[in-house]
Amino acid sequence: MEHLGGKVVAITGGASGIGLAMATRFQAAGMQVALGDIEAGPLAAAVDGLGGNDAQVLGVECDVTSPASMEAFRDAVLDRFGAVHVVCLNAGVATSGSLLETPVESWRWLFEVNVLGIVNGLAAFGPGLVEQGEGHVVCTASASGLISAPALGAYGATKHAVVGLAAVLRDELAPAGVGVSVVCPGVVRTRIFESERNRPEALQGPTHIDEDQADIYLHVAENAPGPELVADAVHDGVVANQLFVLPSPEVGGLILARIDEIRAAMPPKP
Ligand SMILES: NC(=O)c1ccc[n+]([C@@H]2O[C@H](COP(=O)([O-])OP(=O)(O)OC[C@H]3O[C@@H](n4cnc5c(N)ncnc54)[C@H](O)[C@@H]3O)[C@@H](O)[C@H]2O)c1
Repeated sequence: MEHLGGKVVAITGGASGIGLAMATRFQAAGMQVALGDIEAGPLAAAVDGLGGNDAQVLGVECDVTSPASMEAFRDAVLDRFGAVHVVCLNAGVATSGSLLETPVESWRWLFEVNVLGIVNGLAAFGPGLVEQGEGHVVCTASASGLISAPALGAYGATKHAVVGLAAVLRDELAPAGVGVSVVCPGVVRTRIFESERNRPEALQGPTHIDEDQADIYLHVAENAPGPELVADAVHDGVVANQLFVLPSPEVGGLILARIDEIRAAMPPKP
């Protein structure tokens, strides 16, 4: 979508980190902004920070794991702004630790939010974008959707799923004039490694947190670039209708190493 001014963007996980940075960037491009998030307090603060309800900003408490909640988010956006053009399916959570020590409750939570959250968002917003014949979907994956990130195996599995679904979605929505991007950042400074704050009671499971590994990622995140880097790249990716949005140069070598490993495994041409 080349012209974003006056259009509407809806962002899940919009109260914090990358989602809030995308809201700020799209607002600067002249868009009306709707934030959906499960955390009421940070959501209200984010709306205030963007200028409040009068500034063409809407905050809606929602849970991406619930289809009904995503439909209510969509309805609230349409009631307020009359249309939606860019949908950023961004809410996500992370756990860290070895695969063999990851309890099934963590796998379920990660897939519920990171993958089914996107599926629910697509079900709610997708048909309207297709009918409109104009729009763009942004799926937030991760560099760990393209490479092997240490101790992020379960999280990385969800992000590989996001990359896979986004690539097919691009092909399926292109005839309707709807673009798709998948953003794959390296580590950026957000609250992702404090995700446990949002884990539902039913998926608590046994205590399994590898404190040393969690500390390493918290430290890496504290010293990482800010989420504005990702927001700028997403904005440019939407305008250019680019599938892969890769904002983090430090992971480029690892991505190319993965491609080389695949290339080396290819059978010779018959
Ligand atoms: N920070 C990084 O290093 C990094 C790198 C690559 C990808 N990502 C991805 O970026 C996305 C945004 O994460 P972030 O880094 O900004 O972290 P963050 O924790 O700062 O923000 C995530 C937001 O998602 C919300 N959320 C969590 N569960 C939800 C649910 N069930 N329903 C609705 N909202 C929910 C949280 O309340 C929070 O506001 C995630 O998909 C994450 O996996 C982050």
